[in-house]
Amino acid sequence: MPRFAVWTVRAALLHLGVGFTLGALILFHKGAPLDPALWRLLPLHVEMLLAGWMAQLAMGVAFWILPRFRGTERGNVRLAALAVVTLNVGVLGVGVGGLAGWDAAVLLGRVAELLAAGMFAAHAWPRVKPVSTSTQ
Ligand code: HEM
Repeated sequence: MPRFAVWTVRAALLHLGVGFTLGALILFHKGAPLDPALWRLLPLHVEMLLAGWMAQLAMGVAFWILPRFRGTERGNVRLAALAVVTLNVGVLGVGVGGLAGWDAAVLLGRVAELLAAGMFAAHAWPRVKPVSTSTQ
């Protein structure tokens, strides 16, 4: 597994851990009310688990596993890295913006997430090809 994929999957696992913890807090609050403000964690919970965990895990594994060029090269690695960084910025923007009630941060975060998806798709597109022994 290439180092870039290792860090991307680790980042996704961090989102999983924090996202589950936030969900557990909200769930606990539903059964034994602690503080109504805990509901403000919901957008961060949703964003961390849907985008930070699921999408980022898919990106890390796809970077690792998609066919390579000339046996070793993974194409535009910088674009993939930029996509992962932008995704994390987007998740934090939407999640923290939702928590604090900053609509502009939520909007910018969504734009960042969209850009991240586009950049990763642009990285992955040429790698989605039949594997042949000569061009693998
Ligand atoms: C990959 C795993 C998960 C994903 C993708 C996920 C996603 C979501 C989404 C999209 C919502 C919003 C639902 C809505 O607005 O109607 C939500 C709500 C919630 N989630 Fe999660 N979740 C996950 C795991 C968990 C876990 C493990 C817990 C608790 C330990 C949890 C606790 C909650 C709670 C308490 C709510 C609020 C439910 C309500 O509106 O009454 N979630 N989650």
